[in-house]
Order: sequence, then structure tokens, then C-alpha cells
Amino acid sequence: MATTIPLTAIEGAKRLAAFTAVDRHILSQHKVIGIGSGSTVPYVVDRIVSQGLSVNKDRVFLATGFQSQQLIVNAGLRLGDIDQFPVLDVTIDGADEVDPDLNCIKGGGACHLREKVLAEGAKTFIVVADYRKNSQVLGANYAPGVPIEVAPFAATSLLRSIKTLKTPPLNANLRMGTGKAGPVVTDNGNFVVDAVFGPEAMSDPVRVLHAVKLLTGVVEVGLFCNVAKAAYFGNQDGSVTVKL
Ligand code: 5RP
Repeated sequence: MATTIPLTAIEGAKRLAAFTAVDRHILSQHKVIGIGSGSTVPYVVDRIVSQGLSVNKDRVFLATGFQSQQLIVNAGLRLGDIDQFPVLDVTIDGADEVDPDLNCIKGGGACHLREKVLAEGAKTFIVVADYRKNSQVLGANYAPGVPIEVAPFAATSLLRSIKTLKTPPLNANLRMGTGKAGPVVTDNGNFVVDAVFGPEAMSDPVRVLHAVKLLTGVVEVGLFCNVAKAAYFGNQDGSVTVKL
């Protein structure tokens, strides 16, 4: 007899957020859909699959990285390419932290360049997460800092130049893989620097985004400002908090 393993409270919260967001935002007329990265997104794909073959056969799904590409393919959905479908109806993705203005830290999984392309290319970008990501100020709950994708040749220089910003990070480190694997390498062949900015800097994430983006070697910054239309947070008590 098959046994069902109960979901932990956090997994239940992720699933609740994902299911609610799909039910509200992935409608039958939506044909080009972006699928983000992380541990919440599999629930998004599950819910989309449950909408049935009759709607999904006419849809194309774009991936933000290797993980979501596998999710799409393994679910039997049609994988599309951003070059063919640069305008998406909806993109749904997770986040590492979201503030009251829907600014997000993203890139905990080192996918934020492709995630930003699919978020900005979408008519509607929706964030799904558990309650731990719902924050008053970015950086308050997510300790690793702001992920910065950087060209490998420029990584050491960036660790120096970022200290010259008007409001420099408290610390910045090259993200390393587990064991002796060396630096984490993104799907685009780049490295990631994680920079922890203090609360004063993070009270204006747009300024941090613009300042960091100008540093030589930076490919993309994991600050998503003025992109999300809504964020859904699953709570432990089975409720969902919606930020609009
Ligand atoms: C990857 C991301 C993820 O969306 C983010 O890390 C959230 O992941 P999870 O749903 O596992 O909390 O930005 O680059």
C-alpha cells in the first residue's frame, strides 16, 4: 500500500501560494508562460498540469534555467524559446525576499539573469513564496545578501570596486559551490557575488540596483524593482497573504 508523506508546514505554505497564484493568474487564454526557479516552482507546474491537456496543448512554456527546463519537459509541457516568444502572457517565479512595494531579492539559485528577462518580458509577473519571504525591508530576512552575476574575468575586480560605492556593502563574497567544486557557475557561464547591504542602503533598493549595475563586469543584479504585479505568500495556518 502506498504511503503518503505529509508536507512540512513550509512545503505546504509554498504549495498553497503556488496553487492560489496559478488559479488566479494562469487563465485559459494565456498561451506563453514563464516558469521560474527554486523549490516553490514545482508546485506551480503541478497546478498548471492539473488544468488539463485541453488548455496546455496550445501553450508554450519558457524556462529560467536548467531546473525549470527539466520541470517543463518532465511534465510533458511544450518548451519554448525566448527568441521565438519574447513577450510572455504571465511569468510565475519564487523569490528570496519581497518588500511591501513588491521589490524582490532573487538569485538564491543563481538564475536571476534569465529570471529577470522572463519577468520583464511578461505582461504579468507574479511571485510565489512561503511566509518567510514576506519582509518589511529587503535584507531583513535573507542573510546571504544581493546576488550579483558577474563575468568571471571581472569577479575579483568587482569585489574591490563594490567597496567604492557611496553606500558600500557590509560584506561581499564570491559564491562557492559545495565541497571543493570552486565558484558557482551560472547557466550563462558566469560567477555570482553575494553582497550584504545594510538597512540604510536597502531602504532604497532601486538606488542599490542602479549603482551596482554600473560596476564593470556586472551582468545582472538580483534586485527586481517595479517588476512584480503581485506576490502570494502561503502561511502556516493555511491562509494566503497577497501583496498587490
Ligand atoms: C533562484 C531564485 C528563486 O526563485 C529563489 O531563490 C526562491 O527559491 P525558493 O522557492 O526555493 O525559496 O531566485 O535564482
